[in-house]
Amino acid sequence: MLALVLVLALCCCSGAEEIKIGACIYRFNDAFMLRFRNAMAEESGNAGAVITMADGQDDQNTQDAQIDDFIANGVNVLIVNPVDRMSSQAIIDKAKAANIPVVFINREPTPEMLATYDKAYYIGAKAEESGTQSGQLIADYFKAHPEADKNHDGKIQFVLLRGQNGHQDMILRSKYSVEAIRDAGFEPVEVAGAIANWDKFEAMTIMNAFFMAIGAENIEAVIANNDEMALGAVEVLKANDYNTGNPEAYIPVVGVDANASALEEMKTGGLLGTVLNDAENQGTAAVRLAVALASGKDTGSIGYGITDGKYIWVPYRKVTRGE
Ligand code: BGC
Repeated sequence: MLALVLVLALCCCSGAEEIKIGACIYRFNDAFMLRFRNAMAEESGNAGAVITMADGQDDQNTQDAQIDDFIANGVNVLIVNPVDRMSSQAIIDKAKAANIPVVFINREPTPEMLATYDKAYYIGAKAEESGTQSGQLIADYFKAHPEADKNHDGKIQFVLLRGQNGHQDMILRSKYSVEAIRDAGFEPVEVAGAIANWDKFEAMTIMNAFFMAIGAENIEAVIANNDEMALGAVEVLKANDYNTGNPEAYIPVVGVDANASALEEMKTGGLLGTVLNDAENQGTAAVRLAVALASGKDTGSIGYGITDGKYIWVPYRKVTRGE
């Protein structure tokens, strides 16, 4: 009780107004960004800040208008998950003109763009790390299960399901997952690949087509840039009596994110593994940094280290069955 009175008194005496955060999300209907939004809402509550989130509906023009509205309504700081990360410069210019800080999340502006404003930051995870780790999951499986090399040619014939075009996670996860397979001593062969835009249903359509065109016997692994697409592939495999418990009919599939639905699918053996994309820490860090910047507080005491004055990097981690 005493503590409560003290806290109230402190708030009243400092005369500090609540921090208003305007947060722009590229698309609400994205399983990974939902985790991000939940983390940001929770941390805003903890910090006593008011956060308003806008759904960009995967349209940069819509998001640009939302940014204008937030600025016109006097938010103290912006958190932006750009629809098109190459549009970040225009967003930085607007924030700079309004003299409010801007914290980018999940979709990385170029270093040149960030350098144009001292109050522009990026919080994310190193895309190449997740690529390497998902490739290692496949390579480790092949080492433990030589029979996974169905045609015994020492190569891994895989299908690659890619995220949205231009996204750093699509570019670097694709590149580094394949490199990790090579580094582990296997020759990677992409038998088929396509952009499925992070989306489960697009992945299902594509995987069905590949299945028909190539034949299951010629696919030794599926690498997906995220869990939703991996789960789409698993669904198609299951519909064709693969990955349902028969060791003779199994194709290892890996994703990235460690969403709850993927962890569930790992338990029943449909999905081999995934990589934790830590939305909870990224979202918490974004709000803490935003609040510190907006209130002029020390950014060194938010519990997350800032690299090169611009970045907070949250590590990825491999997740397999039983972990
Ligand atoms: C996640 C995807 C998500 C995308 C949105 C990626 O980091 O792995 O699941 O769809 O971000 O930008």
